[in-house]
Amino acid sequence: MSKYITTPIYYVNGEAHIGHAYTTFIADTIARYEKLKGHDTYFLTGTDEHGEKIEESAKKSGKSIQEFTDEMSATFKNLWDEFEIAYDKFIKTTDENHKIGVQKAFKVMYAKGDIYKGFYEGNYCISCETFFPETQLTDGEFCPDCGRTTNIVKEESYFFKLSKYEDRLLKHYEDNPDFILPRSRGNEVINFVKGGLRDLSVTRTSFSWGVKMPKSFNDDKHVMYVWLDALLNYITALGYGKDDALMNYWPASTQFVGKDILRFHAIYWPAFLMSLDLPLPKHIGAHGWWTRDGEKMSKSKGNVVSPKEVADAYGVENLRYFMLREVPFGQDGDFSQRAFIDRINSELSNDLGNLLNRIIGMSGKYSDFEINSVDVEKYHTKELNDMNEILDNLDALMENLQTHRYLEELWKLFSIGNKAIEEHAPWVKIKEDKKDEALATVALVANILAKASVMLSPVMPKTTNIIADALNFSIDNTSYKELVVDKKLLKLFNIKKVPPLFPRVEEPLMEEAPKAMPDDNPNDEMKEELAAKKEKKEEDNLIEIGQFFETSLKVGVVVEAEEVPKSKKLLKLQVDLGENSNRQVVAGIKEFYSAESLIGTQVCVVANLKPAKLMGMMSEGMLLAAKDEDGLCLIRPEKPKKVGTPIG
Ligand code: MSP
Repeated sequence: MSKYITTPIYYVNGEAHIGHAYTTFIADTIARYEKLKGHDTYFLTGTDEHGEKIEESAKKSGKSIQEFTDEMSATFKNLWDEFEIAYDKFIKTTDENHKIGVQKAFKVMYAKGDIYKGFYEGNYCISCETFFPETQLTDGEFCPDCGRTTNIVKEESYFFKLSKYEDRLLKHYEDNPDFILPRSRGNEVINFVKGGLRDLSVTRTSFSWGVKMPKSFNDDKHVMYVWLDALLNYITALGYGKDDALMNYWPASTQFVGKDILRFHAIYWPAFLMSLDLPLPKHIGAHGWWTRDGEKMSKSKGNVVSPKEVADAYGVENLRYFMLREVPFGQDGDFSQRAFIDRINSELSNDLGNLLNRIIGMSGKYSDFEINSVDVEKYHTKELNDMNEILDNLDALMENLQTHRYLEELWKLFSIGNKAIEEHAPWVKIKEDKKDEALATVALVANILAKASVMLSPVMPKTTNIIADALNFSIDNTSYKELVVDKKLLKLFNIKKVPPLFPRVEEPLMEEAPKAMPDDNPNDEMKEELAAKKEKKEEDNLIEIGQFFETSLKVGVVVEAEEVPKSKKLLKLQVDLGENSNRQVVAGIKEFYSAESLIGTQVCVVANLKPAKLMGMMSEGMLLAAKDEDGLCLIRPEKPKKVGTPIG
């Protein structure tokens, strides 16, 4: 079976950020997973180098456009190489073969009667390279996607008959409910199509940095619309329009995109493919957006997370693990060093790293590093059954792109291992002269580590190779089949010592406020406009007094307080608000207050918040606090007040 996995191709007018890294990590993980399963897999990534926006950025750089795009494209390629992304091809849309393929597709669509010439007049956003109907503009003027000013553009244009494909598209979504993953994202696309599709302008005359029209059209003033050009990369990379050399990989199995470009991939792209009489991709996997510490990342705020900086500080494999574990595929995710460090310390270092160390330590002590699985089945049937059940469930999760659930399940294997050690206490068995039992437990856990490493390898390829090396086997399709599919055990081997794989991280390793990255949009006019919009938004943010009183604030007293185990941040408090029972409040203040110091003190509580779960514990309120660069302090009444006194 062949598999074809793609990432979007990245615009070359800015540097790679964490959002690009996420798409690339997840696509790389799925491609590695398919290869592990023995599928003939092709993985494509690359850069999107045409269009007005890039032409403008190149002009500002003072370089020739091609020189500029080559340099910027190389920054992406070099980064992916440094991160050991296992792509099979890195495509550039300025590649000659790509241009030939785009021209060929244009001719095929035209011959089919799907392309005609006309005039376009509309509100155009240069930054998004998109026309928007007036009804979609913000305040009748601004781009609904990026907020920049749109311009009225009237130009001669070739159009693609998108409207012709409305019914076929709707039928395809209906017949293939997993075409868009997660399914929940499908509705927005379906509703958009149901709202009616207008034909799509697919050429431009207002700039020249694009794929030229096929010679036979004799119409040099047009260049191809960048989205037509860009989407076609997925087939030109396989030789479409040239030699079709790799077209056996088409249709793609999963094409990864961010939610902002889902519409292009779930509407335009399938319509283009229908016009070309090519099959549609099996899945379009749309992921959410990453924020930083809860805030949208933007170059002007200077809070864009640079994946290189994070990888240099924490290691690229830890970053891969964090990003894939942290968010359910399709939902937005937040990058914070705190959350990242918590996962490194508790999941990677404690659960996985310590288990490996314990096994190395015990086998060294009890059997001169020799692991023998001869008695594992005799003493550990239950653990083996539990482990096999987990292994059997993993595949469906990965196939559904549920990486967070996949890793969560995978981690249960380490719990089985840790629990087996606690319950069977090999050190006691040794003292009781039951060496075969002790060694069986050690061998069980070594096997758990081996199987888990195979399944973790698509996410953390280098780290798992080190573990496999310590356990004296290699991770590949053969070991996948033997250890995971056929549930065999590694029989007899010598284990090797390895240095700790996941040193604990005590403090954030990067500055919290990173220096601003170079702005890709240094146009002063636009900056002023954004500042004006911000001001307007702040004005719009004023609230009526009634809105303020919708929040119920009350004085309370802390009656109990304790630390939340495994959390650096959280304290669990019981707060008396003068109600029938105390409220449980889980607050992120452990770094600033000890539990004991809070007992008996007064606090101000937001009392009508919907309860929320933090680290599995219900929190039924929020404490008022102020935080600046010197730290955090609780807001308390100046003089003691009765519990339950309203604040207003
Ligand atoms: N060039 C187009 C894609 C053409 S594909 C035929 C493009 N490029 S992009 O560089 O702007 O974005 C590439 C990908 O990065 C998109 O999938 C986009 O969703 C993703 N992200 C951009 N910012 C992001 C976050 N903050 N978080 C997660 N992903 C985000 O669009």
